[in-house]
Amino acid sequence: MQISVVDHPLAAQALATLRDVDTDRVGFRHAMDDLAGILVYEATRTLRTESYEVTTPLATTTGTRLAEPPMAVPILRAGLGLLPGVLRLLPDVPTGFIGVARNEETLVPEPYMNSVPDDLGGRDVLVLDPMLATGGSLTHACGILRDRNPGRLICVCVLAAPEGVAALDRSGLADELVVGSIDDHLNDVAYIVPGLGDAGDRLYGTA
Ligand code: PRP
Ligand code: URA
Repeated sequence: MQISVVDHPLAAQALATLRDVDTDRVGFRHAMDDLAGILVYEATRTLRTESYEVTTPLATTTGTRLAEPPMAVPILRAGLGLLPGVLRLLPDVPTGFIGVARNEETLVPEPYMNSVPDDLGGRDVLVLDPMLATGGSLTHACGILRDRNPGRLICVCVLAAPEGVAALDRSGLADELVVGSIDDHLNDVAYIVPGLGDAGDRLYGTA
């Protein structure tokens, strides 16, 4: 699995806002949206392009466009926080939804929704989940997608724990991980440290 940790001052600034316990819900959503745009730039770097003829007011020249837009798949709930940033840059991407809730006692991911087509026809997929902690949720989602004839599976995360990165890598299911930061460790209840707390709750309120 190729791993890119985004190194950019604006990404670092958005990340600091997300980490700050005093950032309110509005500020948290805005910072997540800002960071999503930056992560998507990095995550789309390897997408295939094609050339086509463009007529300027002065001449014809060669333009570039994506050969095939990827599919976006946010992992509910917290992955929805990254979706507007993706759709701003890639407004016509098809979007599928996978719902997984981590059981906070067993840490096992419990699936509750899946609207991904049965055959992705080789299309690349941006898998959106801000938090990669134990890796259970993202590995589960990538397992569903891997069975459906995808192109590259590109995971887009705000924060990861080393344990989650290792688990996702070991699974062999994802082609690439683009992440804002790989933090220090998981605590004894599998929260990322220093982290940002519970991403879903900070975006949408306590479930
Ligand atoms: C959070 C987060 C990830 C998952 C990460 O979701 O958004 O999906 O936990 O943990 P893991 O790597 O150990 O599986 P949660 O299950 O809390 O659901 P939510 O998005 O609805 O808040
Ligand atoms: N889920 C979160 O939202 N945050 C963590 O730190 C771990 C799992």
